[in-house]
Amino acid sequence: MPRAHTYPDPKPGDVILDFVGERRTIADYEAAGGYRQLERALGMSDKDIVDALQASNLRGRGGAGFPTGRKASFLAPPHPRYLVINADESEPGTFKDREIMLRNPHALIEGVLIMSWAIRAAQAFIYIRGEYFTEYEVLVDAVAEARERGWVNRPLPGTDYTPDIVVHRGAGAYICGEETALLASLNGFRGQPTAKPPFPAVAGAYMRPTLLNNVETIATVPAILAMGGEAYAAVGTEQSKGTRVFSLSGPVQRPGNYEMPLTGTFRELIEGLGGGMADGRAMKCFIPGGSSTPALLPEQLDTGLAFEAVQAAGSMAGSGAVIVVDDRTCMVQFGLRVAEFYRHESCGKCTPCREGVPWITSLLRRIEGGEAKDYEIDLLLNVCDRVEGKCLCPLGDACAMPVRSYVKLFREEFEAHVRLGHCPYHDMSPLSSLYPMPKSLLPLVPA
Ligand SMILES: Cc1cc2nc3c(=O)[nH]c(=O)nc-3n(C[C@H](O)[C@H](O)[C@H](O)COP(=O)(O)O)c2cc1C
Repeated sequence: MPRAHTYPDPKPGDVILDFVGERRTIADYEAAGGYRQLERALGMSDKDIVDALQASNLRGRGGAGFPTGRKASFLAPPHPRYLVINADESEPGTFKDREIMLRNPHALIEGVLIMSWAIRAAQAFIYIRGEYFTEYEVLVDAVAEARERGWVNRPLPGTDYTPDIVVHRGAGAYICGEETALLASLNGFRGQPTAKPPFPAVAGAYMRPTLLNNVETIATVPAILAMGGEAYAAVGTEQSKGTRVFSLSGPVQRPGNYEMPLTGTFRELIEGLGGGMADGRAMKCFIPGGSSTPALLPEQLDTGLAFEAVQAAGSMAGSGAVIVVDDRTCMVQFGLRVAEFYRHESCGKCTPCREGVPWITSLLRRIEGGEAKDYEIDLLLNVCDRVEGKCLCPLGDACAMPVRSYVKLFREEFEAHVRLGHCPYHDMSPLSSLYPMPKSLLPLVPA
């Protein structure tokens, strides 16, 4: 049976993943205090709810870390307005939203209903990644359970407001996690980013004012109302409040999702909860916030999990996906694998990403295959510079930033490939089964 909520004293696992194992039905959720915050919210004004979010200082858990209350306060006044939940979760290494949707779907649905009420949303959409079919079914069933209880598609008790929740499946494109691409896709257009402004707060779903948030962000809202904004803000650091779910992967003893207060450190997460390295391997580096974030070295393990701490260490907290890399891994192969992903997912709308990301991939493939000349390592850095900050959305940066960090931290590995004419790690690397891959994708590099 699930454990009860222990909101006043959040410890790892206590706010969102506050139970072990089984999926939570609506009865389990209610027994643990579920839907009481929605009842309370119905007695609060929209301003009170947004104020509680502002007081909590909750920052979005989707990647950018934007303050949630402030975003809600920006929503343009004209009705109809919409709420959109970003359940696209495609950043490699990230698997926390699926855990929330699979095991605690009513935390998300209660959060959706509270926020729908707060902005009087005409409809709420949960835009879920196409590959998450089981999670989609779980959510559809959970919405049906909430409907049976009278929380959906009927006026909420004591009000004339009727919420509606639509679970909408994406088609499996990473770019559709970017908010403007997601909204384009939801609106029936090709899933590609659009220039901002207009921001979603002004023109989003159906080109109407739209509040768009990540699954974990919205699933945290009931906990914030239960504790009170100030009490929630008492947990955490100066700029990063509350707890966050981290997806820990790579060769550690206990990979998985761990909810931790943002006062914690990567050492506590990786060596404490994750049990440290598996099979006696040594750590080469770790990626703190999903594959798009620059790598950090083992000597930086005492870096805090807080947004500002990761930034000060030279990387980004991103989506909360912590990927551990061991000493068998060739960082050129690793970089190539990461770049391949972004090349495949680049939507092609803007030139720096459409041309630059394949060029980064092609250079890495040449270096990995031992075909590159000396100057191509610096050319790789140069192309990264020309992509970063120059694209319509941050997808290009998501390729350039980590690749640059691998060259900066492990340049000797790149040089060894050029000097030896092959990959010195090839037989020991866990990625080697994926290579050799077809020769250069595009003949962009002069011989
Ligand atoms: C290429 C790209 C992919 C993204 N993918 C996701 C995603 O899968 N899920 C998500 O919540 N945010 C994703 N984001 C961030 C969203 O654009 C947006 O900032 C976020 O959903 C806002 O919610 P939050 O304020 O609650 O964090 C992505 C951003 C970019 C640039």
